[in-house]
Parts: sequence; C-alpha cells; structure tokens
Amino acid sequence: MVEEQLKEVIRDIPDFPEPGIVFKDITPLLQHPELVQQAIEEFAQQLEGISFDVIAGIESRGFLFGFLLAQHLKKPFIPIRKQGKLPYTTVSESYKLEYGQATIEMHEDAFPAGTKVLIHDDLLATGGTVVAASKLIEKVGGHVAAYSFVISLDFLQSAGRLTRFSEHIISLVH
Ligand code: PRP
Ligand code: ADE
Repeated sequence: MVEEQLKEVIRDIPDFPEPGIVFKDITPLLQHPELVQQAIEEFAQQLEGISFDVIAGIESRGFLFGFLLAQHLKKPFIPIRKQGKLPYTTVSESYKLEYGQATIEMHEDAFPAGTKVLIHDDLLATGGTVVAASKLIEKVGGHVAAYSFVISLDFLQSAGRLTRFSEHIISLVH
C-alpha cells in the first residue's frame, strides 16, 4: 500500500517553523525514486475519470510532484509562485498559512478562459493556500476541476473549504 510506504519515509519535525507546529518533511521521500514513481502512478489512478486540461502547482513543494504528474499525464504545467517571482503580468491573492501570511501569483495568460485546472500541492493544512490558488484560477476564467495533495492534515478539517470550488479532493497520505 503506497500510503503506508509514504508514511514510513515522511518525517515529523516538531516545533518547525514555530512552536506547536508538527512539520511534515517530505525531503526523505525524494531519496526514493521508485516510491516517488509509485506515488505519481497512484495520483494518476485516483484521478481516472476526472476531466482536466492543465495542472497548476504551488511554489515550492507543489512543484516537486505537480510537474512530475503533469509530465506523466502529458498535461501542461502552470507554476503558481510566491509574490514577485513571475516576470509577466500576474493576478495575485493574499492568504493566511498554518504559520504566517503569504501572497501567491499566476501569469494572467497562463491558460484560456474555460480551462479545467487540477490544483496540486504537497500538503493540505488550513487550506488557505489552495483557496487562494482557486481564486486565481477563477479570476482568469478557469474552473477548478480537482485538487491533489501528497498529504492531508485531516484533523484541521479544511477539505470543506475546497468543496465550493471542486468536490474532487485526492490525498495519498491522511
Ligand atoms: C506549505 C505547503 C502548502 C501550504 C499548506 O507551503 O507546501 O503550500 O503550506 O498550508 P495551508 O493549507 O495552511 O495553506 P509554504 O508556504 O510553507 O511554502 P513552501 O512550499 O515553499 O515550503
Ligand atoms: N504547511 C502547512 N502546515 C504544514 C505542516 N504541518 N507541515 C508541512 N508543511 C506545512
């Protein structure tokens, strides 16, 4: 079962980046290329039957699996980046994190209106990041088709914040 194997290699770092947060560190997973490949295949399997045109991944950890998944499924990849990093004209959204505050941006011409977008990130915590990403997608006329995460922190109960954009929420590790 890929979930059990992933749980074995993802490590908990208590009190990072601040007291009270248990940080889920995926860097050891990146040392296991076969397991990464299995994770990508598991995403592909769980996404079967869900229609989408492009994958938008969120800087920076959302780029790791998001781009691999896009290549695997032969879909275009859209980078959603932290403020001030994208060179062309952007749309932008600010949001709160489990720790701190941030702004993310996307190129205004990232995809044509009507495009169905899978939003990918490594981890769902409060949902602030992917709600902001969803607003960016809708600002330029796209539709959120689904979400994919390596990890969901289910105890924070944030999946409910996403269902107004899409009911399809996939996580490999709960
Ligand atoms: C982390 C993580 C998600 C987000 C989840 O990103 O990669 O993007 O927090 O938290 P939320 O559900 O409460 O919004 P972070 O901003 O730490 O950036 P990084 O990926 O560059 O490390
Ligand atoms: N992003 C937000 N909360 C996180 C956590 N607990 N571990 C890793 N990344 C996070």
